[in-house]
Amino acid sequence: MPGVFQFTLAEVADESQRAYDLGLQAVLLFGIPKQKDEQATSAYAENGIVQQAVRAIKARRPELVVITDVCLCEYMSHGHCGVTRMDGEHFHVLNDETVELLAKTALSHAAAGADLVAPSDMMDGRIGAIREMLDANGFEQTGIMSYAAKFASVFYGPFRDAAESPPKFGDRRSYQMDSANAQEALREVALDIEEGADIVLVKPALLCLDILWRVNERFGKPTAVYHVSGEFAMVKAGVEKGCFDERDAVLEIMTSLKRAGADLIITYWAKELAEWTRE
Ligand code: PBG
Ligand code: ZN
Repeated sequence: MPGVFQFTLAEVADESQRAYDLGLQAVLLFGIPKQKDEQATSAYAENGIVQQAVRAIKARRPELVVITDVCLCEYMSHGHCGVTRMDGEHFHVLNDETVELLAKTALSHAAAGADLVAPSDMMDGRIGAIREMLDANGFEQTGIMSYAAKFASVFYGPFRDAAESPPKFGDRRSYQMDSANAQEALREVALDIEEGADIVLVKPALLCLDILWRVNERFGKPTAVYHVSGEFAMVKAGVEKGCFDERDAVLEIMTSLKRAGADLIITYWAKELAEWTRE
């Protein structure tokens, strides 16, 4: 992903300071651990990379909203978003075992000082389990941004490379949604809100403007959209080929996302956008 970097713990406070100085209100953290295993141990370790990064950012810039990605794929040796079991040739993702580990992970992020946790795994019942875990431990004020409508997509490819998390076998279609099914997306959003989501997220972005619009209209919740790595890479490639100007293209895309109902936009252009919109 051109212009997108992994940061070390030592760099993360400076980077968040830069984001803050540009006028950004929030950052979303993804972690890449030293060790991966089949229980994603590094995801909920007290001194895991995300937990340490949250503390470093909050020590430098307490006003900056820190959101943490809650998922297991970066921490699993096999790269799936949950605990897996092999059954002959086939593998299953174990929903309830996964939800327990996700709730532990969310709690450890909250304890480190995260303002919001953002579960991106798509297991069933995880929003309720995370809400319960946070409340039971005195983190009633920690919010949840739920990846409520997340479609299985080829456009996550560049992210998986950058985050070192492509699945070693199988794919993610058993837990991510079928992009042909709009009704399922709306049902998933309704469930997540019932379970306690504060912000609901739709992803990918341009491919889901119809869903984004309906979610924002129907539920009236703060609605986020994630302009994903493959969507980013397409524009970068087009710019490189001389098809269009990057700034014009990005401003047009972001305007469409706002028009379709996005209250929040997650984008790899955040820093550039902060400068362009100021200009
Ligand atoms: C993993 C996760 C993914 C993204 C965000 N969290 C990849 C996936 O689900 O395969 C994709 C982000 C992007 O493509 O920019 N839980
Ligand atoms: Zn994942």
